[in-house]
Amino acid sequence: MELLTGYGLGSVAIFTVLFILLVDLMHRRQRWTSRYPPGPVPLPVLGNLLQVDFNDMPYSLYKVLNTFPILLRIPGLVDKVFAGQKIFMAMVDNLVNEHRRTGDPAQPPRDLTDAFLAEVEKAKGNPESSFNDANLRLVVSDLFGAGMVTSSITLAWALLLMILHPDVQRRVHQEIDEVIGQGRSPEMADQTSMPYTNAVIHEVQRFADIVPMNLPHMTSRDIEVQGFLIPKGTTLIPNLSSVLKDETVWEKPLQFHPEHFLDAQGHFVKHEAFMPFSAGRRACLGEPLARMELFLFFTCLLQRFSFSVPHGQPRPTDHGVFMFLVSPSPYELCAVTR
Ligand code: HEM
Repeated sequence: MELLTGYGLGSVAIFTVLFILLVDLMHRRQRWTSRYPPGPVPLPVLGNLLQVDFNDMPYSLYKVLNTFPILLRIPGLVDKVFAGQKIFMAMVDNLVNEHRRTGDPAQPPRDLTDAFLAEVEKAKGNPESSFNDANLRLVVSDLFGAGMVTSSITLAWALLLMILHPDVQRRVHQEIDEVIGQGRSPEMADQTSMPYTNAVIHEVQRFADIVPMNLPHMTSRDIEVQGFLIPKGTTLIPNLSSVLKDETVWEKPLQFHPEHFLDAQGHFVKHEAFMPFSAGRRACLGEPLARMELFLFFTCLLQRFSFSVPHGQPRPTDHGVFMFLVSPSPYELCAVTR
């Protein structure tokens, strides 16, 4: 009777919502458990939206703050969550101050920071100019971020994957010994004769997937993609992971498997879906430089050292830590000269 008169509708609505959430929860758990790699399964429902994982709170906190930036107004939170960024910016400030102290305007600029500082000096009193101290800090930190952190994180992944896959490391050692030997340093010209090493470096980049959400882009005009209208001015976050881990493309998308880049004869094969540097006009400017760095540093290190998990230590995890870039979880390795 209460239902007919409308008085009991509130409790029916609550019951219905709880029931739907419960069915949703059961459904998701069933689907996710098979899709997720071993490890904690994120919370369902709201947890699904934010991908909250209570076993990895720093990682989850970034995602929550990214979704609800208003939370950054909570006093003290910024200092706590972005402590690493503050240390990084302090390092950039030190570097710039060192240039100010040691720069000699009578000499040609030693690097970009010197050149920028000279422009800041010229632009003094011109509020329209973008040559100012604040921009210098950002340009220097951008270049560190874009050019150094990316390559060094990839190398950290490469060494981690070598200690986790000693069989792969052995084959790289063997190829280095055959093609380069110990008598000279590796050169870029060696790359074409080293298909296995080349495949390993590509697979490190695919597996590590260090820029999973690329950089945000904005549509400069209305555009239609697969029937969806995306209006001008929309922020887009291209999901590079969806390509690098695409299960319709890669034989073992969630595993480290250098054979992804080798044919049956052991020749190196390119993949359209290999895009850790993104794609299109705004793809990474430093890609050719990064490829050289990765090949030369990786082969130099493996030419000289054998890497392994230190004696008595547990096997490190290959799960990454997301801080916009994905770095390996901290690990220790043992390097022995060959
Ligand atoms: C393994 C190393 C690297 C990876 C995985 C990487 C990846 C990326 C990605 C995914 C983007 C975003 C592209 C987009 O917006 O669609 C990017 C942009 C960029 N990268 Fe790299 N990068 C690496 C190394 C470097 C190096 C060594 C430099 C130069 C010193 C560099 C300079 C830049 C610059 C300047 C941009 C911005 C380009 C633009 O907005 O037009 N990167 N990189």
